[in-house]
Amino acid sequence: MTDEFGISALLEPMRINQRNISNRIVMGPMAAASPEKDGSPSAQTIAFFERRARGGVGMIIVGGTVSTKRAYEESPVASVLRMDIDETIPHFRKVTDAVHAHGVAIISQLTAGFGRMGKPLGNRQLISPSPINVTIPEDQFPKGFIVPGGRSTPMPREATIAEIKAIEEEVIEAAMRARDAGFDGVQVAAQMSYFSASFLSPHSNWRNDEYGGSAENRGRFHANIVRGIRERAGPNFIIGLLLPANDYLPDGQGPQGFAQVAQEIEKAGLDFVALSNGAYETMKMSAPETDGAMINSGDAKVFKKALKVPVMIQGVHDPVFAERAIREGHGDFVMLARQMLADPDYAIKLRDGRAAEIVKCDRQNLCMRRMVFGMPVRCGVNPEMGRESRANGGGRPIGRLVQAPLESVVLSLTGSPTVMGLVGKLATHTQGKRAE
Ligand SMILES: Cc1cc2nc3c(=O)[nH]c(=O)nc-3n(C[C@H](O)[C@H](O)[C@H](O)COP(=O)(O)O)c2cc1C
Ligand code: SF4
Repeated sequence: MTDEFGISALLEPMRINQRNISNRIVMGPMAAASPEKDGSPSAQTIAFFERRARGGVGMIIVGGTVSTKRAYEESPVASVLRMDIDETIPHFRKVTDAVHAHGVAIISQLTAGFGRMGKPLGNRQLISPSPINVTIPEDQFPKGFIVPGGRSTPMPREATIAEIKAIEEEVIEAAMRARDAGFDGVQVAAQMSYFSASFLSPHSNWRNDEYGGSAENRGRFHANIVRGIRERAGPNFIIGLLLPANDYLPDGQGPQGFAQVAQEIEKAGLDFVALSNGAYETMKMSAPETDGAMINSGDAKVFKKALKVPVMIQGVHDPVFAERAIREGHGDFVMLARQMLADPDYAIKLRDGRAAEIVKCDRQNLCMRRMVFGMPVRCGVNPEMGRESRANGGGRPIGRLVQAPLESVVLSLTGSPTVMGLVGKLATHTQGKRAE
């Protein structure tokens, strides 16, 4: 059945592994769920995800998670959901139960480490597949971020083979915790310029051992993780991979290169591949101001051709465009991140023929700016977002009465090139000193 917008393909169910996913709309991973300080889900975390499940999305990918001790210690995000320890796990059951009550699948992202984008712990140097840091030119920051002169991160050292293998094992153990907490599966995260992603592209991987060189070697870290999870979690546990479709770097790689590595990882037992876009060096492509970069360029189709498993595309908020992208075979699922903050009822509105009522994400990135400054994530067009757990009629929490005005000042200054220039330079200087 189609409505006046012609939406039908987006509402078709599809299986991932043995799990029936009721439509093609997937909530993408976001560190926006306000965990407790100890890394377990809070009442707000549960309410945030329950609200999106109630809105009819087919599957939820939980972001803002860490799977290793190093990822926890070096996280650039102030609060994270910890999958690296046993203590938090019983609490995740409340999240998975709340989402499953609506017939929605839920999987956890597995973040191995932040690599050259991490925040060093004391004097300890960051590690990455090769010793290359990240330089983000001024013109590559997404809308709303003004950072005169751009930014450079501290120089990491090359990870040893023993360190890489220990991280693989830690990530596999985190996947087993996710399974124990009732998640339907996991997504091995290899996006942006983080530790896992840095193996994939020749720009950030110059190794000449078993983890560098050929596509098989550049995907070995991820394939070892996928194989390890498959062996221990069994055939029905969903295992996905998130990787960039294109890093847009002259010495990096485009869709053909990334798809070749994804093919190697697929052989280890993947159930889906999700596409992000860009790297931190080309950050503007990761949180784009317009729809459809990987569709218009044909990049997504390269993955559809190369892979047997379903492909999730990213960067198409508009439902009519998303519908066309699915029908034309650019992907099987549409993964929506910011649009899911803006309107949790996106899917149900499509199902009920109310596409015109969808509240559109304004792409001004208030959500991201708040995350970067360690503030609870909020959305400029959805006042409920971040407050889903608050009871109707309740007053503003005391802590927020003090914090909220301070946050407004910081956010208004972040729009000022002068202040952001100073902040950018101070941060770069401090990081440089740490790296010495
Ligand atoms: C507040 C916020 C937090 C994010 N956290 C994560 C994360 O934890 N893991 C991840 O892979 N991507 C994260 N992202 C990136 C999104 O998943 C997505 O790639 C990006 O927002 C572009 O897609 P969109 O246009 O659908 O928003 C985050 C994005 C936002 C806005
Ligand atoms: S804050 Fe702005 S960019 Fe972020 S989800 Fe809301 S509308 Fe979109």
